[in-house]
Amino acid sequence: MAGRTSDWRSTRLAGLLGLRLPIVLGPFGGISSVPLAAAVSNAGGLGSFGLYGYDAGRISETTTRLRAATDRPFNLNLWLDHDEATSLRPSEAEFAEWLRPLVPYFTELGVPLPTRPDRFLPTFDEQFEAVLSARPDVASFVFGVPSADVLERCRTAGIRTVGSATTVDEAVALDAAGVDAIVATGFEAGGHRVSFLREAEESLTGLFALLPHIVDAVSVPVIAAGGIADGRGIAAALTLGADAALIGTAFLATHESVAPAVHKAAIHGGEAGHTVLTRVFSGRLARGIPNRMQRELDQVSADLAPFPVQNWLTGRFKPIAAEQGNGELMSMWAGQSAPRARSIPAADLISALEAETDAALGRWR
Ligand SMILES: Cc1cc2nc3c(=O)[nH]c(=O)nc-3n(C[C@H](O)[C@H](O)[C@H](O)COP(=O)(O)O)c2cc1C
Repeated sequence: MAGRTSDWRSTRLAGLLGLRLPIVLGPFGGISSVPLAAAVSNAGGLGSFGLYGYDAGRISETTTRLRAATDRPFNLNLWLDHDEATSLRPSEAEFAEWLRPLVPYFTELGVPLPTRPDRFLPTFDEQFEAVLSARPDVASFVFGVPSADVLERCRTAGIRTVGSATTVDEAVALDAAGVDAIVATGFEAGGHRVSFLREAEESLTGLFALLPHIVDAVSVPVIAAGGIADGRGIAAALTLGADAALIGTAFLATHESVAPAVHKAAIHGGEAGHTVLTRVFSGRLARGIPNRMQRELDQVSADLAPFPVQNWLTGRFKPIAAEQGNGELMSMWAGQSAPRARSIPAADLISALEAETDAALGRWR
């Protein structure tokens, strides 16, 4: 295995995307940060920015800021099935029913009750047109298989595409559709389970079991995600056949992250080692740090709104809870490796990850 420790950086995916390091920053819907994405790209990895909820104007403005901050490749991330979600039009009565379980939290935080909006999210088509115009080096998609038209238009525009799988079947479907790379998302990962062929509750395989299975089943490079927080995790992912490691929670704790202070504190707090999967904050299954709102609403989950209405409703008071430093009444997504996150500049984390991966792989030389 001579030379292996200097070779881990030069994977097929790193070559395809022009990366010095096969390390990808996880996108964070709602709390992605231009300085963080740019810092990761500038350090040789792939910075990502989550566009959840962004309209065309914000997508264009964000890309301009990213381009000013880095001349390296970066990735823009979209949630796929907005069409289905955006067609959800609750009646006034339905909206009031869905609001009711949350009224005590609006009251406690002193936030006025919201009225029914015209739409809960921008459409996928609006977002996708803006991404095409922005021409990032990479576009990643979650919650489904991008259509042939979407993939073809990305190819024509010179945009590499990445799909996300939580099961082998999902990875095979993405591979057949022709994406350039696939994220294998283990059960450990922070944030939403991006499952689309089976219920998220039935798609909970851990990364150690999922990753080699997906690597063997697809033709394109695989990016490992879920619970990776140091170089040992990167070395393990590469050893299991991954072409890159995608890291979320460990970057959420870095200086450039715009996660609210109370969220960052919780990543270093006593509950960080006890993350849970819950639907109560958004209507979709996601992993985060447990708190009072999650415990209370999990008792009445049948009364809660579906996605994206629940995400919109809790999103009305989340910024106020964050401002008040009230981590009991807001989602704080985090993965199972949260306790090992480091509160340091992103470039220092990348340097540490690189040195640790060298050391971990060097043990076997
Ligand atoms: C706060 C937060 C928000 C996230 N938002 C998104 C998102 O909008 N799109 C997406 O593809 N993944 C999203 N994720 C998942 C991450 O990009 C990444 O896959 C995951 O964090 C990897 O697992 P780890 O946290 O154990 O490193 C989010 C994760 C967190 C913690």
